[in-house]
Amino acid sequence: MAISSVSQTRIWFITGSSKGLGRALAETVLEQGETVVLTARNPQHIEDLVASFPPNRALALQLDVTKPEEIREAVKQAIAKFGRIDVLVNNAGYGILGAIEEVSDEGVRRQFETNFFGALEVLRTVLPHMRQQRSGHILNISSVGGFVSYPGTGIYNGAKFALEGISEALAQEVTPLGIKITIVEPGAFRTNFVTRSLVIADIQINDYETVIGEMRKGARDILDMKLDFEEPGNPKKAALAMIQAVNSDQPPLRLILGEDAIYAINAKLESVKAELDAWREVSVNTAFDEVLVAK
Ligand SMILES: NC(=O)c1ccc[n+]([C@@H]2O[C@H](COP(=O)([O-])OP(=O)(O)OC[C@H]3O[C@@H](n4cnc5c(N)ncnc54)[C@H](OP(=O)(O)O)[C@@H]3O)[C@@H](O)[C@H]2O)c1
Repeated sequence: MAISSVSQTRIWFITGSSKGLGRALAETVLEQGETVVLTARNPQHIEDLVASFPPNRALALQLDVTKPEEIREAVKQAIAKFGRIDVLVNNAGYGILGAIEEVSDEGVRRQFETNFFGALEVLRTVLPHMRQQRSGHILNISSVGGFVSYPGTGIYNGAKFALEGISEALAQEVTPLGIKITIVEPGAFRTNFVTRSLVIADIQINDYETVIGEMRKGARDILDMKLDFEEPGNPKKAALAMIQAVNSDQPPLRLILGEDAIYAINAKLESVKAELDAWREVSVNTAFDEVLVAK
């Protein structure tokens, strides 16, 4: 695979840099000599990292992705300081656990506000600058759950599927303008996601216990520290893989991280293909008869 030489002057802008994948990526990019705008709801949580690099290479800004005015202000400050944004990483996010019926309307909207509308607003604020530059790379951190849905995480899946849907269209819209899009689909990575960023729906409907009861209990046990859960994925290696994709002359539209994610995505692709083949005739025969005769 062709890897282009890394520009020392690339400017990264990362949401949710306080913890987990966002922090690991910010730290790794900084260690490699590039410049990062680290953003977090509470900038105090990133000041230690920013302080260990020269001020002309690391900037800490406040950014809650559900607040459009903070998005506009953070992008404005990043451009004012560095003049450009080369790599935008839409990483901020959290999960909600519960059957589709169990998550309140407010819980659904909050999930979409962060994981979908937040990322959408950030990229729409940065895109005019990238269009003007005729260059840039946007990494939208989705999940294996942005390609495969699971019982008990359907609302999270919905928000990540939505992010993937706009990313696919966006890639085709902005490729001619020199802007690249990569959807990142991590499997299970050892971050604070399960211990800190997973909300369990308040409502519990007994009918769903057989399908998601065990998952809910597992999540509660982890939160109550009754159960150790060691995800296989190493955030530092995820960061290095993302940097490798950004360095590539031909970055992937989808960057799948972790063997667990590859397994799940492969299983879905095979099942979709099998169903497509099994129902092909029914599908094709829905055209007007004259269209079918003309074939
Ligand atoms: N870890 C995994 O196994 C895994 C797998 C697939 C996908 N992902 C995705 O990876 C991304 C990062 O998650 P993680 O695993 O690194 O979890 P994490 O360690 O809990 O970090 C989540 C980050 O998102 C930030 N965040 C949440 N809501 C925000 C908001 N409204 N505005 C700004 N920042 C916000 C958090 O900031 P605060 O400190 O302010 O809370 C934190 O920095 C998420 O999009 C997640 O869906 C993770």
